[in-house]
Amino acid sequence: MAEILTLGISHYPPLIGPDERMAYIFKRMLQNPKLPEKLRSPQGWPEPMQAEWSNDEGAEAAGRHRQELVGWMRQVRNALDEFKPDFVLIWGDDQYENFRYDIIPPFCISAYDNFSFSPPANNVWSETEKVYELPGNKVAAKFLATRLIEEGFDTAYAYKPLHHPLGHAFTNAIYYLDYDRKGFDYPIIPFAINCYGRKVIAQKGGMPAFDRDVGEEDLDPPAPTPRRLFDLGAATARILKESPYRVAILASSGWSHAFLVGKNHYLYPDTPADRQLYDQLCAGDYQAWRNYPSKTIEESGQQEVLNWSCLVGALNELNRKPKITGFVDTWIFNSSKVFLIAPEK
Ligand SMILES: [Fe+2]
Repeated sequence: MAEILTLGISHYPPLIGPDERMAYIFKRMLQNPKLPEKLRSPQGWPEPMQAEWSNDEGAEAAGRHRQELVGWMRQVRNALDEFKPDFVLIWGDDQYENFRYDIIPPFCISAYDNFSFSPPANNVWSETEKVYELPGNKVAAKFLATRLIEEGFDTAYAYKPLHHPLGHAFTNAIYYLDYDRKGFDYPIIPFAINCYGRKVIAQKGGMPAFDRDVGEEDLDPPAPTPRRLFDLGAATARILKESPYRVAILASSGWSHAFLVGKNHYLYPDTPADRQLYDQLCAGDYQAWRNYPSKTIEESGQQEVLNWSCLVGALNELNRKPKITGFVDTWIFNSSKVFLIAPEK
């Protein structure tokens, strides 16, 4: 009989590198020629931001940030190992990896036979030759796509990558859940979401380029709405509940991203907006998530939270509240990070 474990983590890219480089996004955003004078030096920053930056450009704070994040990754990994899933279904954003000029689907199930990928150079594990070879579960992926289409969710699917072996939302999730390098052998079904919407091509799903202005007419059509993704997540959980599988469902993403928050001059994340969503999540106020406006997602730089819209839809469908949650906030390390473990009982 089916059993479902629901999980959420961050795939924060700078965790791959050493502490000294963890604040690289922030340092880049400090170069923004349009940054108000006041924010150009620590004296003009809010006090907790100054404290995090300290007199070592955030190096010591990076160590603490890493410790906290890795602690959470270990907890989630333990829950995964205890559960022993048949496969892990991962909701993650595609940041101009396989969603590019030639096609931008709203979401896409990777029904590959297997996956092969390696951590980038200069990683914190000092790995130069490491290759992850993971199986997919094509039968289950096709079953899910079939049933979603029958339910009115015209999901895209792919049998092989179009450009990139596997997007960072998925690879980083594996690197971090395997932070202690004990191995990761669970089959995976990556379920990519077009989170970046209007900026998926215009900004290549990444940091703003300061050498050119991006006007309204340069923007792409929007991402799917929180409501649609919530309903997609609910349908996914409903379908998997009726399947023969033990499934771990994992949302992989940070929340508000500094480099997407125009109102904060792309310097620090919209933590109050994240806190509000987090509180609603913990309280089981899932309708607030379903009704969350796309406009707020964009204004608060919460594009990647759309992965969690799927997860919250699944929680709603499963009539489940999270058992363990954590919120790791920061001013200088680009994004709020949220962790969640919600087992059946
Ligand atoms: Fe991402």
